Amino acid sequence: MCGIIGITSTKQVSSTIINSLKKLEYRGYDSAGIATLYDGFINEVKCEGRVDSLEKNVSKINLLGNVGIGHVRWATHGKPNTVNAHPHSSETVSVVHNGIIENSTILKKFLVEKGYKFKSQTDTEVIVHLVTDYLKDNNLKDSILKMLKKLQGSFALGIIFKDQPDLIVGARRGSPLAVGYGPNENYLGSDSYALKSMTNKISYLDDGDFCIIKKDQVDFFDSKGNKINKKVLKLSSNEQNYEKGDYKHFMAKEIEEQPTTIKNCVNEYIDKINNEINILNFPWKKNEISSIKLIACGTAYHSCLIAKYWFEQLTLLDVEVDIASEFRYRRNRFKTDCLYIFVSQSGETADTYAALDLCNKHKMKTCSIVNVVESSIARDSKLVFPIHCGPEIGVASTKAFLGQMLVLYILCLKIGYLRKDLDKKKYNLKIKSLLSLSKLVSNSLSTENQIQSICNSFTKAKGAMFLGRGYSFPIALEGALKLKELAYIHAEGYPAGEMKHGPLALIEDGMPVVVIAPRDEYYKKTISNMQEVIARGAKVLLITNKSDEEIYSENIWEKIEIENTEEDLFPFLTTIPLQKLAYYSALKKGYDIDKPRNLAKSVTVE
Ligand code: F6R
Repeated sequence: MCGIIGITSTKQVSSTIINSLKKLEYRGYDSAGIATLYDGFINEVKCEGRVDSLEKNVSKINLLGNVGIGHVRWATHGKPNTVNAHPHSSETVSVVHNGIIENSTILKKFLVEKGYKFKSQTDTEVIVHLVTDYLKDNNLKDSILKMLKKLQGSFALGIIFKDQPDLIVGARRGSPLAVGYGPNENYLGSDSYALKSMTNKISYLDDGDFCIIKKDQVDFFDSKGNKINKKVLKLSSNEQNYEKGDYKHFMAKEIEEQPTTIKNCVNEYIDKINNEINILNFPWKKNEISSIKLIACGTAYHSCLIAKYWFEQLTLLDVEVDIASEFRYRRNRFKTDCLYIFVSQSGETADTYAALDLCNKHKMKTCSIVNVVESSIARDSKLVFPIHCGPEIGVASTKAFLGQMLVLYILCLKIGYLRKDLDKKKYNLKIKSLLSLSKLVSNSLSTENQIQSICNSFTKAKGAMFLGRGYSFPIALEGALKLKELAYIHAEGYPAGEMKHGPLALIEDGMPVVVIAPRDEYYKKTISNMQEVIARGAKVLLITNKSDEEIYSENIWEKIEIENTEEDLFPFLTTIPLQKLAYYSALKKGYDIDKPRNLAKSVTVE
């Protein structure tokens, strides 16, 4: 999704801006641009496509300037082309923008009537002309305040001014924005990751704030224009995790990293000596919570669906799961004895953040499970549980999904035990099993050759189905999502028992169907459903666990066996072949695996 970088310095800034834009590439984008101030003029270079092309264009003209802003754009208003790429500039100002201006049509009409000419189809250009207009009769700060008052929607902005040779304005409403501090230079960035390459000292803008950044001074203001102070935070430095190493794609690396990330996360939460879960800072008493609501989007939502099964099996709590974009607009019955849990890898997903914000405004008990601990969702939750995965760069979430499931499972065990829904013996046994999870995941990774030959049938198919029952049903949804987003193959995940109520009509000769059926309490029922699709011509890939028990079904096309373990832990293992199936199908089709079309890593618009 869109990304912003701004630098004001004593040095030339264009190459540093380009390098920082490269760090933002993982978010997913379709065009890029940069504007600098030099000799009293704003100079702009933009292009459709990758930052590499922008870099070539910038070096051709030797773009000079000590102040500049850069942007990668993920199109919302207007096609992804050079004209619509950011920055957008008038003679006086240049603007980069993340988010959506919801009242841009009305503002455009007003500005056109005043004589302003629009070059692009974007909503951003109204900001350019509004600021240009206000600057005619107001000082810089008042012009910004007036412009911000006019805008509806969510946004993060970076603005430079022809007549202010060392200054950048940043403003935030909804979309994240941070300021970085360097020696004789300061920075603006939509992402701490992009700023990390330049500094480890940053401050975050809160909703409604704006800032004026000079190379040796930064001033922050609230939405009324009052000066405010900001904490300077220190970022941890783990730069090496951002490299692909010998892997062809970040996704391949991130799949292989899963045994390590599981191990790290287990080490963070499990006290091996006392066989205990280290969650000591729980701010609520056990009788203050009688239900749980899990809220997330996409893959993170699937982790919540699985957690519902765990919470229902191991605790007596009522558990509901909700898609954040639905939750935020529903007439919710907020309950003070409910724990609202928000799950997000990036911690910046606009819908998940809005759902959290809504719960905070209703003074609910909120906690989040995130990968990026400096993120907005983490900062605004009362309690945060990191998943300790390290940076996930591939757009399709893999290791973060396992991390989300793991923390949800650990939380479920701890809450179940504290409430006495789970007895000590069972609690201790389950903790012990977690200690072997990393090894089990590692053993489930070695399916390369088999999957590479299987995926031929998927790449040629019109569509595919993924079936499961119990906690294998959300895994089916996740397998289908991965195949769709990476290999652009239409796929549906379905509860196996629901096929006969409609989707069975889709099954025809040779259609690939993945059946996820480890030997758990649902196994026999799922195998019966599998036979129903085989009888109608489906080519079934069965994912089950290793066992001496015979499978009573004929004509299974292919079988992948994961390690045997206790039922609760099967979802961690059945996921892995599905990640690989999507990866190799996309590889075979020659697609851009780490940056699938139309998608973004951090979804900061609703
Ligand atoms: C799919 C995928 C997305 C994300 C979703 C939420 O592979 O990665 O569905 O899970 O966009 O993102 P986060 O977890 O950052 O809130």
